[in-house]
Amino acid sequence: MISTVTLNREGDIAIMRIDNPPVNALSPATVRDMDATFRAFESDAATRALLIECAGRTFIAGGDISVFDDPSFSPAPLNALLDRIEASERPVIAILHGTVLGGGLEVAMAAHHRIAAPGTRIGMPEITLGLVPGSLGTQRLPRLAGLATAFELISTGRPIEVERALEAGIVDAIAENPQAAARDAAHRLAAQPARLRRASRIEVPDAAELPAVLADAARLAASKPHQPAYAEIGPCLAAACGDHAAGAAVEASAFARLIPSAPARALRHVFLADRRAQRIPGLPEATESRPVAQVGILGVGTMGGAIAMAFANAGFAVTLVETSQDALDRGLGIVARNYAASVKRGRLSEAEAAERQARMTGHADMAALADADLVVEAVFEDMELKLDVAAKLGAVCKPGAIIATNTSTLDVDRIAAATGRPTDVLGTHFFSPAHVMRLLEVVRGRNTAPDVLATVMRIARRNGKTAVVSGVCYGFIGNRMAEVYMRESEAMQLEGASPADIDGVAEDPALWGMAMGPSRMLDMAGVDVGARTVIEWIKSGEGPQDPSYRILCRTMFEEGLHGQKTGAGYYRYEGREALPNPALGDLAGRLAAGHGVSRRAPLPREEMLERLLFPMINEAATILSEGIALRPSDIDVVWTAGYGFPAWRGGPLFMADEIGLGRIVARMDHYAAILGNARGYWNVAPLLRQLASTGARISDWTSTGEEA
Ligand code: COA
Repeated sequence: MISTVTLNREGDIAIMRIDNPPVNALSPATVRDMDATFRAFESDAATRALLIECAGRTFIAGGDISVFDDPSFSPAPLNALLDRIEASERPVIAILHGTVLGGGLEVAMAAHHRIAAPGTRIGMPEITLGLVPGSLGTQRLPRLAGLATAFELISTGRPIEVERALEAGIVDAIAENPQAAARDAAHRLAAQPARLRRASRIEVPDAAELPAVLADAARLAASKPHQPAYAEIGPCLAAACGDHAAGAAVEASAFARLIPSAPARALRHVFLADRRAQRIPGLPEATESRPVAQVGILGVGTMGGAIAMAFANAGFAVTLVETSQDALDRGLGIVARNYAASVKRGRLSEAEAAERQARMTGHADMAALADADLVVEAVFEDMELKLDVAAKLGAVCKPGAIIATNTSTLDVDRIAAATGRPTDVLGTHFFSPAHVMRLLEVVRGRNTAPDVLATVMRIARRNGKTAVVSGVCYGFIGNRMAEVYMRESEAMQLEGASPADIDGVAEDPALWGMAMGPSRMLDMAGVDVGARTVIEWIKSGEGPQDPSYRILCRTMFEEGLHGQKTGAGYYRYEGREALPNPALGDLAGRLAAGHGVSRRAPLPREEMLERLLFPMINEAATILSEGIALRPSDIDVVWTAGYGFPAWRGGPLFMADEIGLGRIVARMDHYAAILGNARGYWNVAPLLRQLASTGARISDWTSTGEEA
């Protein structure tokens, strides 16, 4: 086997070079190779110092997350190596570049001296994986940088810029040429071996701050009682103020408790699922992209304007087109206001905002799109209008230009056909506000060319989006599942539950932990927007022909209860504060009477949870068996990146496996029996029933039986 680590000699200096692409993650093999290499250094008395450096784009970006699920994984071999490195009589110097994260920072802190290239970023992201650092990071970091800085890095997981790391004492120098600086330092330090700094032997500089830091840590832990990693931070930092070996033992036992915990397993699942979503089976990685420099946006409403911003923010030149100068001015006004808001919130400097806006040009004539390499059509969600626009775009756009139709529900294949060049077409479903929300559903039409799909997936990444491929169906992956969630939310309101009861269950981290329950979400997105879609769906004949189907939101729409924008929806709004809306309860009561729904409040919380969640999981099983989603983990990415599903629950399908498919099927059958199933809402998806009967996990399911 080829080693991922090599040892070279340059005169009397040894250089350990780690080369484990893409990010030099510390796999068990790499740790073994580092160990063997360090042994070789130890036994070569002719060298006076060791430099540790990495090939490629970054220093070690952390432990290898993909092996954390292996029950035999242990940080002990790395930790023992780090203690030996630190104890070395000859100086060890780490040369840092790129992202020095987690295990990477822990390796660096075991060295005696750290020299970083400009632009290096330094952090402890373990908390985002439901962990605390497990290779003495909780012990060496407070000794080098103090408790307050260590608490900040460990509890937020956010990396800091190298200048701050220098100020904090985490790195010793920033150098334009870190290689040369490291060689100088090696000679200097080798001359004074008695003065080598060993982090584990340094006293925590701000130990007097311990009570204050522990109080902050306790408050944070209390606010996240279902994410156990937060509760381990305080004790680890307290232990760093004492004996190193005892502190190491405190950290080791915390890490051992956390690594198999459900939130940690869920968070690593989401991390790997996010990246897996970029890979499309059958589409070779080598598929060439079509060149895209100039992007056109047709339709500059709230959505089109924000999409234009997403592209301009990523450096594309953007041409915005509306049907009239008035509409264009309104659209450009939205963009200008959004940028001003970002500047006000401190997210952008005025200069950055101006630079991004300068990448945009507006036109009131579709001919301006003739030069665009990619056009996103974001006109109003109306099939006739979309078909008309598609035909025009098919004619205006240059050969080879990609046409993306932005829609949350419409049939992308019909729109593609209307362009007369369906291979160039796919759908995009941006989430609102499009310049902020991370998720992008990329809808692959029946005829979408492979290079068109590959191009848009890559561009999405450049735009900072998490893109997930969906097939064509009503609502694609996310909204199709949201539809059954909303259906039950409204059905329960007719039965007598209040929006706050239902949202309270969805948002309760002890049960679930959604960022927003269904009613709060729809009030924010606009009841009118949601209702119009449902009304169209029913009208098309495809949606349920059930007079009581989502009758609550359809009636709210007619009565002008459109949510936050009208000051009243499921809730009544005073400013941004949501208060109970008595009119809504009355309306639900009237509708229940009119549709023969018996009132049975209060509904048990368990029932509210199950009726929101289980139909979604069931729908997801159908989405998988129809091939709409490429794999189960893509569904989890859609929900965690786009709908406020807590990542520490892993997404709906990860959560389904945690609950157990057998239980879900049994409860679906139970609700069919107690609520009636005349409309088939409680029919269990054949795939779900089959997996439940064999004790399989839905997360492991693949259409081909190959690795997901
Ligand atoms: N372990 C295993 N694989 C990792 C990894 C890790 N710690 N960090 C990144 N990778 C892999 C990704 O899965 C991806 O693989 P793929 O190309 O097969 O999909 C590849 O490295 C590139 O990562 P990606 O995130 O797509 O690249 P990026 O340039 O946007 O970001 C990092 C690079 C390092 C900033 C980012 O990957 C990151 O934050 N990684 C996690 C670091 C971490 O949490 N470390 C602590 C672990 S305890």
